[in-house]
Amino acid sequence: MISSKPTDSRSTGAAVAFRGVSVAYPGAAAPAVRDVDLAIGGGTFAVLLGPSGCGKSTLVRTINRLVEPTSGTVLIDGADARERDATDLRRGIGYVIQAVGLFPHYTVAQNVGVVPSLLGWDRARIARRVDELLALVRLEPARYRDRKPRELSGGEAQRVGVARALAAEPRVLLMDEPFAAVDAIVRASLQDEIARVHRELRTTIVFVTHDVDEALRLADRVVVMNAGRVVQTAAPDDLLRAPADDFVRDLVGVDAQTRRLASERPLIER
Ligand SMILES: Nc1ncnc2c1ncn2[C@@H]1O[C@H](COP(=O)(O)OP(=O)(O)OP(=O)(O)O)[C@@H](O)[C@H]1O
Ligand SMILES: [Mg+2]
Repeated sequence: MISSKPTDSRSTGAAVAFRGVSVAYPGAAAPAVRDVDLAIGGGTFAVLLGPSGCGKSTLVRTINRLVEPTSGTVLIDGADARERDATDLRRGIGYVIQAVGLFPHYTVAQNVGVVPSLLGWDRARIARRVDELLALVRLEPARYRDRKPRELSGGEAQRVGVARALAAEPRVLLMDEPFAAVDAIVRASLQDEIARVHRELRTTIVFVTHDVDEALRLADRVVVMNAGRVVQTAAPDDLLRAPADDFVRDLVGVDAQTRRLASERPLIER
């Protein structure tokens, strides 16, 4: 069954845990994130699912400290994220967002090599790593490495964004609606790629979507949020079989039974 993948003992991903994390933006009527307790095991593919404005992006950004919790603690491999230098922390955490944000004047290779360059890797090592990553996201290095972002399709640009986020071998990869802006066919192929990359690298992935099918397809653990709170954390099958409340039941939809049947066939070979 696709959701019951055992924890891999070779896992290189870091564990991420939230202890009583709340975030209140200044002047907001209600906190964006409320008292979240959540543990994401090293190497887990976790997907945050929930309606617009429920706090998914805010929660994800507390991991790389683009947002600081108002109260509570974020732990990465058991260590308080606040005690790490923020820049240093961010170089060790890949981050992919919907608007890819490639540097327009850099080539594909320069974009992918940004963090390794900042880390002072030598040129030959960066070049090797860039080619390895382009191959990993199925962009033939010889064809793509010298192109500029404007010479890429939307789906190719997203692949470069994923390669860039993976460049310095991050132990945690944050992906905030990374495939929302591409069409359904490209999206399905990008989903296949990220599932394969996860299988190969065993990095911890925290992926945000409001697409239920995308969540069920990719996740080891689905984390359902509503109005700043985590309302259920479960493997996809368990979410469909036993939604915690009416909100989750409505979210996964009336055709949950159909989805459950479909999920019993391997959508993605794992
Ligand atoms: N920088 C900010 N300052 C003030 N309020 C913010 C800020 N960022 C987000 N918010 C508010 O916090 C709440 C949660 O926002 P967040 O972006 O985390 O939601 P989301 O679940 O990612 O939504 P979406 O699916 O639309 O991306 C929303 O009410 C939003 O308006
Ligand atoms: Mg968001």
